[in-house]
Amino acid sequence: MTASSREPLLVLEGLSKVFTRRWLGRGRELTAVRDLSLTVYRGDLFGFLGPNGAGKSTTLRMALGLIHPTAGRVLIAGHDLAAERLAALRQVGAFVEAPSFYGYLSGRKNLEIFAGLSGGVAAAEIDAVLERVGLRGRELDPVSVYSHGMRQRLGIAACLLPKPGLLILDEPTDGLDPHGIRDVRELLVSLVRDDGLTVFLSSHLLSEVEHLCNRIAILEQGELILQGELSELEREHRGLSLSVDRPAEAAALLRERCGVQAEAHPPPREGVRIRPGSADPAVLNRALLEAGFRVAALEPEPHWLDRLFLERTTTREAAPAGARP
Ligand SMILES: Nc1ncnc2c1ncn2[C@@H]1O[C@H](COP(=O)(O)OP(=O)(O)O)[C@@H](O)[C@H]1O
Ligand SMILES: [Mg+2]
Repeated sequence: MTASSREPLLVLEGLSKVFTRRWLGRGRELTAVRDLSLTVYRGDLFGFLGPNGAGKSTTLRMALGLIHPTAGRVLIAGHDLAAERLAALRQVGAFVEAPSFYGYLSGRKNLEIFAGLSGGVAAAEIDAVLERVGLRGRELDPVSVYSHGMRQRLGIAACLLPKPGLLILDEPTDGLDPHGIRDVRELLVSLVRDDGLTVFLSSHLLSEVEHLCNRIAILEQGELILQGELSELEREHRGLSLSVDRPAEAAALLRERCGVQAEAHPPPREGVRIRPGSADPAVLNRALLEAGFRVAALEPEPHWLDRLFLERTTTREAAPAGARP
């Protein structure tokens, strides 16, 4: 299904947020988010990427109506958040930064309190969300003895109680151990695939989003530098990586003999990068072997998203966040 044939569920239009920082002196402002537009379609597992301080949490707070944008607007399932707040937020389950619980109460009791806040739900529904996030059996333990991963899953359970169509989660795997990360990721994938939810999550880990999401947007210093369907970005930007003896000579051969754009890169990642295009790896491999090279590996480029991110951002490093007008 192409993106254009799907229903936009969360639309951010020209969102900006300027904070006035009094302690920096009169008139000093910080543009945390600048003219940000993006669309999350129903059924997406959308990864909103950016390094610490990029403006992710600020964006999510605006999308949830927790702070007012300086400019722009938020549409959730067609409802303008500013004009139809309740109708818009009825679609959404969310936590920004970390979910908070009463540590001395059980996971179940905490959910009952959440349920009370959202209009009350039956005990069976609390059982169902506990089951869904894999906390059945531990639900009567106090939250203070839960692992960080269990708390994140309890947070997701709380989000699920009002039966939202859209989950908005701020760095849901941040600080988790490998098992916790795996559990949360599997849960999110399953919520999208099996329960038909749409998930918009932020992360500072390119690799996480690359393996988890179907669409991504990358934010840097408050500005969007990339947005799209991951498979399309991959087709456009992911090249081939060649491990070979004499990389510089191999790159020259490939350029001349095969007409591909190949560059040798220096140690420690010695090898050759072949730019995306129509190059057939089998043809390249044969040319190299015929010319007497020893090919150790010829594979889809690893870390292509990191490279793309660095390429798009290196030109901006001169201007530290906060120093911009
Ligand atoms: N309430 C606030 N007042 C002033 N500055 C803020 C406030 N909230 C966030 N910021 C600043 O906005 C920038 C983006 O922060 P944030 O949205 O938390 O980034 P991220 O979630 O991507 O790490 C940072 O420079 C941060 O210091
Ligand atoms: Mg944040």
